[in-house]
Amino acid sequence: MRLHAVSDIHLGYQANREAIHDIEARPDDWLILAGDVGETERHMHLAFDALQPKFRQLVWVPGNHELWAVTGRDGEPGERPLRGEARYRRFVDLCRARGVLTPEDPYPVVDLDGTRVRIVPMFLLYDYSFRPADVPAEAALSWAREDGVRCADEQFLPPDPHETRADWCRARCEATQARLDAVSDDLPSVLVNHWPLIEELARPPRIPRFSLWCGTRRTADWHRRYNARVVVSGHLHMPSTRIVDDVVFEEVSFGYPKQWRGRREPDAALRQIRI
Ligand SMILES: [Fe+2]
Ligand SMILES: [Fe+2]
Repeated sequence: MRLHAVSDIHLGYQANREAIHDIEARPDDWLILAGDVGETERHMHLAFDALQPKFRQLVWVPGNHELWAVTGRDGEPGERPLRGEARYRRFVDLCRARGVLTPEDPYPVVDLDGTRVRIVPMFLLYDYSFRPADVPAEAALSWAREDGVRCADEQFLPPDPHETRADWCRARCEATQARLDAVSDDLPSVLVNHWPLIEELARPPRIPRFSLWCGTRRTADWHRRYNARVVVSGHLHMPSTRIVDDVVFEEVSFGYPKQWRGRREPDAALRQIRI
């Protein structure tokens, strides 16, 4: 088998819903969907309907968009949207019903080119710690606003039952760290998270202060500590391959229609993860 990854397919956009049908079938391979599939359960089903017949196994981690407490779009009946943890759990249940792996499942160990590798889907969120040392936490949002930078998560992503998104992030990091610390072998890993694990990947050049919503310093050494060969992330919509500390960091975003249309074929957005 081979392992591929793509994130940010944003199926709220009609052009993206059409584009995923151009992804070629790879029936022996696994595909990681690294968050921002869309905003609704319908978008998740659309992704799985299109991609499950083409791949042996799908793996999903949530992005911020799945966690937006919005009611259905595109003709879905409007009902009170689930919020925070409850919303995440609903999407996990949906994945389980469809046979898609999530951060809540045992980490699968697969054979990639003769090497046994642990795939680690994670949901870690962000905590506004990607900011300069002289900006205190309570001033972080106004520091971003000074530069005209905002994030729709502030309006749409409730952290219930946690008090803040930073609290939710801390809980997710601690729980994930406990699971990773309990791994008793030294198999190499592929760490997967919607938000980048290291700060240097979290600074979009045109809106650098957007870094607040792009991850947490808590994970700064996870690629070394947890024996990563590859770290997969998305969220920035800036596809790249970088090497830091001999670890390959793959940003695998597909992006909004204006970001890919006329520039690259949808199938080319899939990144093969090589060990
Ligand atoms: Fe996105
Ligand atoms: Fe995102």
